[in-house]
Amino acid sequence: MPLAHKLASLAIMASSHGPEHRHHGRHSHRTHDHDGTDIGALLELDAAVTGTYLAEAISLIHTEAARPIEVIVDAGAGTGVGTRALAAAFGDAEIVAIDGSPEMTARIDAAGPATVRTVTADLDAGWPASVGAADVVWASASLHHIADPAAFLRTTRSHLRPGGVLAVIEMPHQPRFLQAEPHHSDLSDRIEELMRTKGANSFPDWTDTITAAGFEMRRRHTVRIDILEPTELTRTYAQEWLSRVRTGFTDDLTDTDAAILDELLGDGPTSLRHRPDLPVRAARTIWIATVPASTTDTNQEIS
Ligand SMILES: C[S@@+](CC[C@H](N)C(=O)[O-])C[C@H]1O[C@@H](n2cnc3c(N)ncnc32)[C@H](O)[C@@H]1O
Repeated sequence: MPLAHKLASLAIMASSHGPEHRHHGRHSHRTHDHDGTDIGALLELDAAVTGTYLAEAISLIHTEAARPIEVIVDAGAGTGVGTRALAAAFGDAEIVAIDGSPEMTARIDAAGPATVRTVTADLDAGWPASVGAADVVWASASLHHIADPAAFLRTTRSHLRPGGVLAVIEMPHQPRFLQAEPHHSDLSDRIEELMRTKGANSFPDWTDTITAAGFEMRRRHTVRIDILEPTELTRTYAQEWLSRVRTGFTDDLTDTDAAILDELLGDGPTSLRHRPDLPVRAARTIWIATVPASTTDTNQEIS
């Protein structure tokens, strides 16, 4: 199985394509995996389970914005998880959802609301001509896909109005299940390591890149998401996630790890389907940066 396909199916939030495509963005906007897996559906499932970070990030934007918020750009919007949260929170603002995948922007169009405008464009090629100045730019699980994040952030800054806000969000680790049990915790560690060695969901602490682009860094905050009570949703999430690990990394898993996964994905009393407990742990790191309100440079020229 090609590495790009394995990674695409594994890194739900991390990737809709493999890391080797990072420098060839125009070829990278796939929405289905090799086996027909709908990556968009996985993005939606992930948000349904771990989406509490959205409200936290939006609250930070409210706190830091030093200007009226009229235009928000969601850069690398995917299925529009962030787009819809932003539209709900900033009801009077226009939300411009940009994604390189026409299937993703079509999904956003279908879901609405009317304050959302979609633009299908490759952000590696620069800021789309049809998108003007913004008051907020939101980049969730997308900056690490951009071929040249530093250049993208400089361009973003030049399109943000003085007093505007940049919100960058990334997933610092893959979702972890059943952490209290050492063999499951160890399995999660090994999956994380496996993904790191394959280069999936790879990003630095963006602080220096953001400040080098001319932003004032305001907050860097990691949201911890711990869900203790199992629900049908968390069961489905764990099954979807771990079955992708099982099939995607078949050649890389040890026999022990394959056996643990088979037990979890099976139908026995200790399976994900039937066990009474299923704690889920996830996290998001949020960087909030601003363009100083007194800026007098080229930002002013973009209307
Ligand atoms: C992991 S998804 C994240 C989607 C969404 N922001 C979320 O949090 O659910 C990354 C998205 O970025 C898009 N993307 C990646 N590189 C891009 C580029 N160079 N230009 C435009 N979109 C890009 C992909 O098509 C994909 O929909």
